[in-house]
Amino acid sequence: MKGLILSGGKGTRLRPLTFTSAKQLVPVANKPVLFFGIESIVAAGITEIGIIVGDTKDEIREAVGDGSKFGAKVTYIEQDAPRGLAHAVMIAEDFIGSDSFVMYLGDNLIAGGITSLVEEFQELGCNAQILLAEVPNPEQFGVAELAEDNTIRRLQEKPAKPKSNLALVGVYMFDRKIFEAVHRIKPSARGELEITDAIQDLIDHGAEVHPHKVRGWWKDTGKLEDMLEANRIVLEAYDIPRSPLRMGTNSHVEGRVGIAEGVELINTRVRGPAVIGAGTRLENAFVGPYSSIGPGCTLVNCEIENSIILEGSEIRDIDGRIDDSLVGRNVKIVQSESKPKAHRFMLGDRSEVGIL
Ligand code: DAU
Repeated sequence: MKGLILSGGKGTRLRPLTFTSAKQLVPVANKPVLFFGIESIVAAGITEIGIIVGDTKDEIREAVGDGSKFGAKVTYIEQDAPRGLAHAVMIAEDFIGSDSFVMYLGDNLIAGGITSLVEEFQELGCNAQILLAEVPNPEQFGVAELAEDNTIRRLQEKPAKPKSNLALVGVYMFDRKIFEAVHRIKPSARGELEITDAIQDLIDHGAEVHPHKVRGWWKDTGKLEDMLEANRIVLEAYDIPRSPLRMGTNSHVEGRVGIAEGVELINTRVRGPAVIGAGTRLENAFVGPYSSIGPGCTLVNCEIENSIILEGSEIRDIDGRIDDSLVGRNVKIVQSESKPKAHRFMLGDRSEVGIL
């Protein structure tokens, strides 16, 4: 089997971060979301992986390389525009050849990996396997309606009036038949070739599509609240190694806290679960549960909780706790001494700031 990871697209819901960087590289517990996908594909014994890339191809290539650091061989497949998930499958046909494959959306995270799902697909010998999860907001996903005998009655992409609360999870398994379907379907109302329509087309043409209900957690990290939730879940679920750290007087690390090389704490309390990236310096600070502080950050006289701070950012002299926040790379949030006393901002397009 081969792997196909979709890492193109525009990432509009995570702007402004995604104006300058790929949404699949936004980190959860200081690891890009995309890496979780690659690792779970490799863990399932699949080492030939194609990655669909778009505008952010250089950044994805730089982060993933040739795949050897994951024990995989990665081939990049360029998509000229985000024309849909089924379009991505279409342009991957040469790479996939006659193999079956697992398709993994690069912004999805799924508990416990995919090894048992890949095994189930291979044992069943069906044409496709889809994963379904119960969600409170099915209208934002592909939705499956099942018959009493658990076969699929109908699949619809983001229906206004969903027939069930079963969302299609962004991990799919296919044999070669999917290539016939992606060529038969037409673009949807949003102008994309939908994989949901292609799978419905498979069913309409008598193919065997097996629905598997996912019991553990699953997250599409496309939006801020989902990113923060994914961060919480991953920090809860995994043990992150703790390197030796330089700890000045009156500093405390409580609970499970992952610490990378060269971290310095001065008069600071870190309460896990949390993770602190390499070379980050914390002084007179409090880092509360569910925080991921990236590498090379400086946090002085501030409190942070339930937030993701990306690398190289500086946060200094802030009254009041920073909570539920996602801060991009090399961002500065500082209290300025100069008069008049005022808030001063230089924010990118579509930034969001909440002030007390
Ligand atoms: O997360 C699960 C959902 O993913 C499913 O329930 C939906 O049925 C499915 O259509 C998909 O919906 P999204 O609207 O969330 O897909 P999104 O546009 O976010 O794209 C998913 C990933 O695929 C993302 O990493 C970007 C990448 N992508 C997307 C498009 C449209 C590509 O590489 N090429 C594309 O053309």
